[in-house]
Amino acid sequence: MKSLVCILLLLESFVFAVQQKVDGGLGENEISQQLSSEDRRQSPPQTDTVRDETSTDCQQNCHLCFPDIHAALRELTAIVTEQKANIRALEMQLKEELNKKYDEISNLTLSQVEQFRKENTDRQIAFSAALMQSGSGHTGPFTTDITLTYRNVFTNIGNAYNSFTGIFTAPLKGAYMFRVSVYAAGSPSTASAISIIKNGEHVVMAYGHQAGYVVNSSNGVVLLLEVGDVVYVGLGSGRWIYDSQNNHSTFSGYLLFPL
Ligand SMILES: *[C@@H]1O[C@H](CO)[C@@H](O)[C@H](O)[C@H]1NC(C)=O
Ligand SMILES: *[C@@H]1O[C@H](CO)[C@@H](O)[C@H](O)[C@H]1NC(C)=O
Ligand SMILES: *[C@@H]1O[C@H](CO)[C@@H](O)[C@H](O)[C@H]1NC(C)=O
Repeated sequence: MKSLVCILLLLESFVFAVQQKVDGGLGENEISQQLSSEDRRQSPPQTDTVRDETSTDCQQNCHLCFPDIHAALRELTAIVTEQKANIRALEMQLKEELNKKYDEISNLTLSQVEQFRKENTDRQIAFSAALMQSGSGHTGPFTTDITLTYRNVFTNIGNAYNSFTGIFTAPLKGAYMFRVSVYAAGSPSTASAISIIKNGEHVVMAYGHQAGYVVNSSNGVVLLLEVGDVVYVGLGSGRWIYDSQNNHSTFSGYLLFPL
């Protein structure tokens, strides 16, 4: 009888279990609820306290927290990218400006070199000439002063001396050196006298006079000339000067330095 009751009880619980299975058992929510309540039961109560504290910390110090670090990194990356673009733009701008400056400097250097070359060329002024280009003989005496035209040109750098008029014209302001020499036959009645003349005014004279044979004389002067000032050699009235293929009588001038 006892064993019969036991078997019946067993059978009943078996049927109950089978019925539950057939009804679909527990829902998923019920399972997770069951699980989480089991969890809670298993976790010691302090863990919850710590978790709560941590979450409060998170809200107060966002940068220390894991998700906030990601956000901060994203922000940093954006800033770095922006700065990179800024630097690139600055580099381009700098490069452009450097190129422009380089152009300006090389232009300046070029124009300076050109100007220097031009100035240097302008400064090359020197001439030297003897009185007669061919033949030999005296020039003078005349009844008035005349301008001598030195025709046998040795040098005329800068073309400031005109061998047809005998006139030197200053192309730039500066200090100029001039020199003349006179040679003539001695004669009781005729002296040799030539003068360096600046803009119509006598400056220095070379003079010689003797009864026989020949006379030589020379003189020189440094003159401060303005642009366009003229310098030439005058033969005084009643005087004479001799020249031949030996080039005795000469007129020379050159720029010492511009002012
Ligand atoms: C430099 O000179 C060149 C040629 O004369 C000119 O085209 C250019 O504009 C100049 N550059 C500057 C920066 O002055
Ligand atoms: C003048 O110079 C010539 C050479 O050019 C020379 O023969 C002559 O003796 C000189 N005369 C005088 C007076 O110095
Ligand atoms: C005088 O000048 C001419 C032309 O330059 C030259 O041929 C001649 O040799 C010169 N005479 C002397 C004596 O130097």
